[in-house]
Amino acid sequence: MSILLTGGAGYIGSTVASILKEEGEEVIILDNLARSKKEYLPSGIKFYEGDVDDMSLLEKIYNEEKIDAIMHFAAYIEVGESVLEPYKYYENNFSKTIKFFNYFIEKGVKKIIFSSTAAVYGEPKYIPIDEIHIKKPTSPYGMSKLFVESFLESVELSSGVHHVALRYFNASGAYGNFGENHNPETHLIPLILEVALGLRDKIFVNGNDYDTTDGTCVRDYIHVYDIAIAHLLAYRYLSNNKGSLKVNLGSGEGYSILDIIESCRKITGALIPVEVRERRLGDPSTLIASSKIAEDVLGWRRKYQTVDAIIESAWKFHKTKFDNNK
Ligand SMILES: NC(=O)c1ccc[n+]([C@@H]2O[C@H](COP(=O)([O-])OP(=O)(O)OC[C@H]3O[C@@H](n4cnc5c(N)ncnc54)[C@H](O)[C@@H]3O)[C@@H](O)[C@H]2O)c1
Repeated sequence: MSILLTGGAGYIGSTVASILKEEGEEVIILDNLARSKKEYLPSGIKFYEGDVDDMSLLEKIYNEEKIDAIMHFAAYIEVGESVLEPYKYYENNFSKTIKFFNYFIEKGVKKIIFSSTAAVYGEPKYIPIDEIHIKKPTSPYGMSKLFVESFLESVELSSGVHHVALRYFNASGAYGNFGENHNPETHLIPLILEVALGLRDKIFVNGNDYDTTDGTCVRDYIHVYDIAIAHLLAYRYLSNNKGSLKVNLGSGEGYSILDIIESCRKITGALIPVEVRERRLGDPSTLIASSKIAEDVLGWRRKYQTVDAIIESAWKFHKTKFDNNK
């Protein structure tokens, strides 16, 4: 039996697929390569190229494979873009996703692991944010993910199909050849490292008037390896038929943008010029997770305990990529 993993050419999906394979799981990837490249796919894993709402392709996958579970990473992920182009986000992240889920639910798949996000919470009422915190997304991206969570809850009521929605905070770091290669890249750590490599002149800081210690946004960074292990644990949890869960994945520690820049300076030895500009639409000031459910219920333990360790792994990945492209 196999896990059908969508978005497996992307940053997190490719890393998770590779780690699942190392752990002895059978994985199949579906990705339309809209935001990634074929070369990012992990080797030795069967790949179907196409969209998650391509019904004839889903039929083909269903006929050729024995699908036991779905891990759904495929989505657009840019908060700012979602504010400017909401339809694109509701269509890709919600409409297509529920159509895709529905196809496999009707075919009898009973385990769904969904890539959700800290963005479902919006501006926090308290810190650290636990899973029962009020959900009031400040962007169409966050809302599109929350809608999918609601759909999965309704499906559980109507047909008993269980799910685990993993709400990642800031996924970061690299695992061997798998690192952040977003297209377009808007995530902080890879952008700063590109400045360190001389590929960009400076790093833009989007607003320094937030209600935080240094005025820049505070985020909780979690290594992509630790996210992958949480998927494995969630799969085992569902395999033991234990019901559905909503689970935060974070470190419980917050770092401001300036903290991250400072850490990158220390690790790379580069100057890294900074320019402050306007706030970006849809960004909450502080997001820090409580990951107690992941730890207590799934038995999740983080391997990467410090943001420096995360940045060191990312730096190794970006430097190697840069050296190989010379
Ligand atoms: N990166 C983060 O910090 C973060 C944080 C929270 C949640 N998430 C969630 O994790 C998931 C993966 O994020 P990522 O950083 O790896 O993004 P990514 O852009 O690197 O990967 C997404 C992949 O999905 C594919 N895709 C998009 N729409 C598709 C469709 N309709 N059909 C088939 N393939 C499609 C893209 O081509 C890409 O390969 C997303 O669902 C995202 O919302 C990411």
